[in-house]
Amino acid sequence: MIRRIKIIKIFVIIFSLNFPFSANAQTLEEIIKGRKAMFSENYQNAKKISILLKSKKIEEAKPLMKKISENYKRLLDYFPENTKEGFKTEALPSIWESKDEFNALMQKASDDMIKLVKAIETADNLKTIQKELMWSNCTACHSRFRAKH
Ligand code: HEC
Repeated sequence: MIRRIKIIKIFVIIFSLNFPFSANAQTLEEIIKGRKAMFSENYQNAKKISILLKSKKIEEAKPLMKKISENYKRLLDYFPENTKEGFKTEALPSIWESKDEFNALMQKASDDMIKLVKAIETADNLKTIQKELMWSNCTACHSRFRAKH
């Protein structure tokens, strides 16, 4: 049994040595599709948050806000130089021309979701505070860094 595992391991090593490029291409696809999936998930959760807050379900909305915040932080690692095109990406070249600003906007969007968790406790107008700390960040980033779709 152990010997069999060893043989499999050797095959895996040989295989990965022989096909570094195909392995790499797979990774690019995973990165681009991975970031799209996280943005889509954030959008779904943002819509859910709006619905929950409309009926004042504050506690139920909080975990979704934290999830969006975490996704944004993970997204910081999903824009390496070699993922500028392919797999129907809508990412604009401006991301890599102004990477610091892009990352700062992503970080701000993440921090604002945590601020929102606190703010909904005391806010007079839940719709206004959502606009300020959630929806405005989507528009601010898309207008500069995402292609028209
Ligand atoms: C800091 C920048 C940034 C912020 C903030 C941001 N986005 Fe995006 N978003 C992007 C970029 C860049 C893409 C294109 C990704 C790609 O196609 O590779 C994108 C793509 C998307 C997509 C399409 C995903 C797909 O399947 O192709 C949706 C939906 C989306 N964003 C919704 C949102 C919503 C809703 C918010 C706010 C709650 C938001 N985004 C905040 C930059 C941002």
